[in-house]
Amino acid sequence: MLTIKDLHAGYNGLKVLKGIDIMVKPKEIVALIGPNGAGKSTVIKSVFNIANVYSGSIHYHTEDITNLKTHQLMKRGISYVNQGRINFGNLTVEENLLIGADDIHDKNVIQKNLADVYKKFPVLRERKKDLAYGLSGGQQQMLAIGRALMNKPTLLLLDEPSLGLSPLLQKQVFALIAELRTEGIAILIVEQNAKKAIEMADRTYVLEDGKIALMGGKDIVHHEKIKQVYLGGSY
Ligand SMILES: Nc1ncnc2c1ncn2[C@@H]1O[C@H](COP(=O)(O)OP(=O)(O)OP(=O)(O)O)[C@@H](O)[C@H]1O
Ligand SMILES: [Mg+2]
Repeated sequence: MLTIKDLHAGYNGLKVLKGIDIMVKPKEIVALIGPNGAGKSTVIKSVFNIANVYSGSIHYHTEDITNLKTHQLMKRGISYVNQGRINFGNLTVEENLLIGADDIHDKNVIQKNLADVYKKFPVLRERKKDLAYGLSGGQQQMLAIGRALMNKPTLLLLDEPSLGLSPLLQKQVFALIAELRTEGIAILIVEQNAKKAIEMADRTYVLEDGKIALMGGKDIVHHEKIKQVYLGGSY
């Protein structure tokens, strides 16, 4: 579904990714873990064309999407939730959600998608007229994810959705991700909680210094390196 081949990417000439291969199949959850600065966000930003791709290719189904613009990617069913649950603080909750439907022109479809998001996150309906900056951290993350869902994605790119949330809210985010998969959405997720990432993902890629250091299914948890570096105290 998503096929990243020999990707070299970065920012303004800075090389961050040095030849990355990643695959996401329909309805799969694929996780990216690795130390700070390894290039995890850059993988997701490359797919969404907000990092510079120097060489290699990114295909969605059979189409080369390497140089498509954001709205073209959204039209194809790809949505992105950036790291740090960034919302438009001076817009209301509902205005934030509607931005996610920017490329949908049928008012009925927009209202239907809005109703679906409110059904999933009732608190957003309660707060729909409030400015986004007044929401709690967990509500902000719901809003950021809700905005991505307004596009009815088939592939969701999630950058550290549990970062900075309480254990209870993290649990809710992971439950939500499992729920989205049952709705047929494939997910490429960057997750700093390696244990959680491996548990929920069909496949986990370990990114170190712009390269894939290791890749595997749930049994990757037994790998010596994973145990020592990513499940030990140091990560
Ligand atoms: N917009 C940018 N312009 C220039 N350099 C950037 C930009 N964004 C990231 N970088 C650099 O690219 C490298 C990889 O960053 P990236 O955000 O992909 O790492 P990460 O693995 O997501 O890290 P973290 O776990 O801290 O989120 C870092 O050295 C970072 O400083
Ligand atoms: Mg990051």
